Amino acid sequence: MSVSFRQFGGRIPLAMVAIRPAKLFDIPDVVRIERESFREEYPRGVFLVFLENNPDTFLVAEYNGKVIGYVMGYLRPDLEGHIMSIAVDPAYRGNGIGSALLTEVIERLISKGARYIGLEVRVSNEKAIRLYERLGFRKIKRIIGYYADGEDAYYMLMPAEEWGGRN
Ligand SMILES: CC(C)(COP(=O)(O)OP(=O)(O)OC[C@H]1O[C@@H](n2cnc3c(N)ncnc32)[C@H](O)[C@@H]1OP(=O)(O)O)[C@@H](O)C(=O)NCCC(=O)NCCS
Repeated sequence: MSVSFRQFGGRIPLAMVAIRPAKLFDIPDVVRIERESFREEYPRGVFLVFLENNPDTFLVAEYNGKVIGYVMGYLRPDLEGHIMSIAVDPAYRGNGIGSALLTEVIERLISKGARYIGLEVRVSNEKAIRLYERLGFRKIKRIIGYYADGEDAYYMLMPAEEWGGRN
């Protein structure tokens, strides 16, 4: 029987979580976390192509040799650093791993020349919206029917000069 980390009631020391670029062998774990986190799923090939094109802004969080979260960012030609996807294994949420992944990918996108960091989020995803606002993102517009099931998205943006860094 598998027992989730949460059932032990423990917390993860963030110092023991490594944020590092994803490798090909991480893709099955990334896909597993994605399947546990989203209603709509990307085909596996999307992750492989994304990794090939964005090897230093596709990051994973590793704890005790296990991948427990990922973030996929890329620099658009208009110099917006875009967050395409972020998710943390449900058993490990609420430990600061999402914030750590975002912080690292934002740093990397800004150092590659991003003037803004942008993303879309479901209007019902209060947890994620709160996390993004805490990091400095603001809601710019509501995109009607953005998701396949008809839900709207907020497009959220943060100018690079407003990024407060790792604190
Ligand atoms: C959104 C998501 C990535 C956040 O990941 P996470 O690792 O839980 O994020 P964090 O731990 O950094 O922050 C989440 C909460 O934990 C709290 N937290 C962070 N570190 C903490 C710590 N050491 N002790 C206690 N609480 C902590 C944060 O304050 C935050 O609280 P809040 O929700 O009340 O604001 C995660 O919930 C997820 O994978 N969701 C499903 C996929 C998804 O919605 N992705 C976003 C799509 S746009």
